[in-house]
Amino acid sequence: MATDARPTTPVPRFPDGFLWGVSTSAHQIEGAAGLRGPSVWDAFTAEPGRVRDGSTAAVACDHYHRYREDVALLAGLGVDAYRFSVSWPRVDSPGGLDFYDRLVDELCAAGVRPVPTLFHWDLPVGLDWLERDTAARFAEYVSVVAERLGDRVGKWITLNEPAEHTLLGHALGVHAPGRELLFDALPAAHHQLLAHGLAVRALRAAGATDVGIANSHGPTWPASDDPADREAADFYDLLLNRMFADPLLTGRYPEGVGELMPGSAEGVEADLEVIAEPLDWYGVNYYAPTRVGAPQGAEIEFGGVTLPAELPFSVRRIEGRPVTDFGWPVVPEGLTELLTGFRDRYGDRLPPVVITENGCSYEGLDDHDRIAYLDGHVRALHRAVEAGVDVRGYFVWSLLDNFEWAEGYARRFGLVHVDFETLRRTPKASYGWFRDLLAGQRRVPVG
Ligand code: BGC
Repeated sequence: MATDARPTTPVPRFPDGFLWGVSTSAHQIEGAAGLRGPSVWDAFTAEPGRVRDGSTAAVACDHYHRYREDVALLAGLGVDAYRFSVSWPRVDSPGGLDFYDRLVDELCAAGVRPVPTLFHWDLPVGLDWLERDTAARFAEYVSVVAERLGDRVGKWITLNEPAEHTLLGHALGVHAPGRELLFDALPAAHHQLLAHGLAVRALRAAGATDVGIANSHGPTWPASDDPADREAADFYDLLLNRMFADPLLTGRYPEGVGELMPGSAEGVEADLEVIAEPLDWYGVNYYAPTRVGAPQGAEIEFGGVTLPAELPFSVRRIEGRPVTDFGWPVVPEGLTELLTGFRDRYGDRLPPVVITENGCSYEGLDDHDRIAYLDGHVRALHRAVEAGVDVRGYFVWSLLDNFEWAEGYARRFGLVHVDFETLRRTPKASYGWFRDLLAGQRRVPVG
């Protein structure tokens, strides 16, 4: 077992009460697909050619049956908290909630705080984010979960990355439900945001006092100073960052976007009041910045996705940086830039921030590249704290190697290796590194 890595200089100490954790999601690890209804991801992966290695998540890490072993791995790491997601189709199936009851009990017994995400892309088949009614249905499901788990769960996350789910699933069709609507996908964004606002209300009605969302964000770097590149980069920034953060934090869509949303202007205004329900904290999933320029009239391969030529921007390579196995550039200071930029953009409207995902795909048990990535990002996060950003937590993506969506099992993000033949778990070097980091953070300073 390779668990012996030591960082060269200790990571600076984070503020007292800082929450250290790891993240996973239901569809990517649970398996036991026969014990729940189908989700849009089951339907999508059943279509030939959708997943690179032709795999499905029917078994995945079989976490449903092995959750005790996985909670023991969490306890061994010494994390404060575990972010997992609740599968809506499982909750809709007889006995489905019992699994989360058992998982939450096991976590509490191990001294690990459960932090459930209520939607991480596995929409029950038959529902559709293009339909407004899905938002109301989501709030009903959230109430059922909160009623059952609320006595032991304090911290809740409504949605994971509505931006990616809209872009990859509804605009480009490379994720479930496989729609290629380009800008006609925007209603899916609005309805997810509305679902989020209704869920915040439902959670509070059930007594919750610690509610956030997990959004993907990253700095957008213009390819050059050329006005056409700058304009394209601003547009990309609007799509990835502002279209989701602005309505949540300011109660407004960026200029020109509200008109594209479904319903009358008054209807959208009224929805924005729900969407901007104040949050207790704001979750940021950060992986890398994006370099963006004017359109180049050709398809572009970007991080495993083919972007069509007709988009009003083109994504360019970030040169001179190491890349992960996924081809994503490693840019830790992008995290400092992102967070200080958010603080400058949103000021007092930005609640405390939690990094709800950060991680990288690399092969191998002796994963020093992952250690370098995580170590660099944790230090970059500390620089944001020093710069005055109120950051309250950091979650590594991910505890286990898992089903990486359209990439199947080809991309490994785990601190723990999973052999998908035998389902055997083996902690990697990065597991030992994170465990030691957490132990170091808890050590009382001398003097
Ligand atoms: C998602 C995860 C995914 C990770 C790595 C995030 O966008 O929330 O589900 O596995 O990125 O691609």
